[in-house]
Formats: sequence, C-alpha cells, structure tokens
Amino acid sequence: MSVQVIFVCLGNICRSPMAEGVFQHLVDEAGLSDKIQVDSAGTSSWHIGEPAHSGTRRVLSRHGISYDGRARRVRASDLSDPSTYVIAMDWDNEADLRAQFGDHLRLYRLLDFSPDSPEQDVPDPYYTGNFERVYNLVADGCQGLLVAIRRQEGI
Ligand code: 4NP
Repeated sequence: MSVQVIFVCLGNICRSPMAEGVFQHLVDEAGLSDKIQVDSAGTSSWHIGEPAHSGTRRVLSRHGISYDGRARRVRASDLSDPSTYVIAMDWDNEADLRAQFGDHLRLYRLLDFSPDSPEQDVPDPYYTGNFERVYNLVADGCQGLLVAIRRQEGI
C-alpha cells in the first residue's frame, strides 16, 4: 500500500501543481516513487483541463523539474481514504475543503511543515506574480512534509 499525497489550491494551475512537481522530484530523488503517490487538484472548476500557469512551468523548469499535469477539480474520492495526506496551500483552500467534504484526519496546510516560516499561507502568485518567492516557500514546505511522512510511515 503506497502513501497518497494530494496538494490542493484554488485553480490547480499555480501553487498546487508547483508543489506536486517539487514533491514528486524530492520523492524520486529519495527513491520512494513506488511508495508515495503524488497528485494535485483545485477547489474550483475555473481552469479544468488547462496546463499549469506559464509562471509555474517556468520556475519549475528553472529548477530542473518537469511538469505536464492538467488542472482538475478535487472530488470526494480524493479524500475518502483517511490515510491520504491532503495538503492545502492556504487557509481558504482548507476551509473550502472542510465545507465541501467535512473533516479529514490528515488535512494540513503546506507551511505547517515549515515551522520556521514567517507565513502560514502560500501566497497566490496568480495575483502577486512572484513565482520565485512562492517556489521557495513551496520547496521548504515540501522538504518538511517529506521528512514528516517518512517518520510517520516508517519509510
Ligand atoms: P492557484 O492560483 O490557486 O494557485 O492555482 C489561482 C489561479 C487562478 C485563479 C486564482 C488563483 N483565478 O482567479 O482564476
């Protein structure tokens, strides 16, 4: 049984695809790709079927990470397994998930795994345009998340 991780933001074109790409890269580097499954989705249906935002694709490729996912909306089956790690990018995403699907045992915000971060929410680069800063926050959170999952799951 592999561990499931899904990153969730609003549009699934900026932040959660970035986190999916970064986390998949870390999982691959750690040789854990057969043990950890990584996905992402959005709470809205606004960008279904679209590739990631050009800013996200650019910053990922600058860091040597390829990503070719398409946006989709989060669905109840994504949260039906209580052992799935559901990682929201900000407080709004977390509140939307709770409103749509109820409580989930392993619903976190990404920056919960960056204890030294001055922020708790990953700011939305769709509005700020600052994809590099978001990358740094996402990369920190993903590193902390992998450590936490490895410890929790004994892998
Ligand atoms: P994301 O960013 O949630 O990080 O994918 C956004 C993408 C699109 C919109 C808002 C945020 N939008 O308003 O269309």
